[in-house]
Amino acid sequence: MQDFTGKVAVVTGGASGIGRATAVALAAEGVLVVVADIEQPPLDAVVEEITAAGGDAIGIVADVSDWESVDALRARCDEAFGAADIVMNNAGVAGGGSISSVELPAWEWTLGVNLWGVIYGVKAFLPAMLERGSGHIVNTASIAGHLTSTGMGAYNTSKHAVSGFTETLQQEMVAGDTGVGVTCLCPGFVATNIVNSERNRPERYREGGPDLDEGDVEGTALADSGSAIADAYAAQMKPDVVAAQVVQAIRDNRFWLFTDDFADDMIRARHADIESHGTPASRSHLVELMFRGGDQ
Ligand SMILES: NC(=O)c1ccc[n+]([C@@H]2O[C@H](COP(=O)([O-])OP(=O)(O)OC[C@H]3O[C@@H](n4cnc5c(N)ncnc54)[C@H](O)[C@@H]3O)[C@@H](O)[C@H]2O)c1
Repeated sequence: MQDFTGKVAVVTGGASGIGRATAVALAAEGVLVVVADIEQPPLDAVVEEITAAGGDAIGIVADVSDWESVDALRARCDEAFGAADIVMNNAGVAGGGSISSVELPAWEWTLGVNLWGVIYGVKAFLPAMLERGSGHIVNTASIAGHLTSTGMGAYNTSKHAVSGFTETLQQEMVAGDTGVGVTCLCPGFVATNIVNSERNRPERYREGGPDLDEGDVEGTALADSGSAIADAYAAQMKPDVVAAQVVQAIRDNRFWLFTDDFADDMIRARHADIESHGTPASRSHLVELMFRGGDQ
């Protein structure tokens, strides 16, 4: 997609972090942006920021883990600006805990937002793109969609699923000569509110075992981290750097978008393990990696 002026974008999880920065960056390119999020006050703030800068945006409260809510978001977008040309399925939550310790409601919450949110977003917005023979979908996965590590089972599972889903989608879009572009965004560590994901956990998913910021993650540096995890995150890449990369990836119709390369050796080691058809020899731990500042 070369010309962004007057195009329509929907960004989920747009009230904070990577989504917020991308909504602002797209608006600066002349895109009409529908910012969607479950949290109203920061949603209002980003819409205000965009309009104060002369851009066009509306904010819609939506829960991406709920099909009715995502379908209503699509209807509101159609009504306000017309069918979406760009959809960024980006809303996400993180929580720690070993596979044995995390309760089912926490699994359902993580997979509901991180995976079903992406599936619902594609099911809602893709049909109109296919009809028009154009559009671009960005799904936010993670380096945790390419590496496994202890204490992050639900998150790793959701992000591996998003990678596989998005790669399949891209192949189908190319095979069908649809004109719809696809990007799989795989951030490393980005200084956002992801460590405070608990703020958005609905009551029905509360029974869920240990959380990332409670430091109760077996066998990892996180076990002793306490609030150090929040400090470590604050020192990472800024969301506006990622947003610029996303805009460029849409422009170039680029599929894999890794925000940096510090995990490449770990990903290579993991691929070598897979190719050996044996038992993994490598072990990755993303949280430890972050505390080492990306040094492996
Ligand atoms: N920050 C990182 O280091 C990092 C690394 C890899 C991947 N990611 C991914 O990037 C994406 C954006 O996260 P972020 O880091 O900007 O975090 P963030 O917490 O700053 O932003 C996430 C946004 O999603 C919203 N959200 C949560 N549940 C929702 C729901 N049910 N419906 C709608 N919106 C909901 C939150 O309110 C928030 O505004 C996520 O998918 C995350 O997994 C982040």
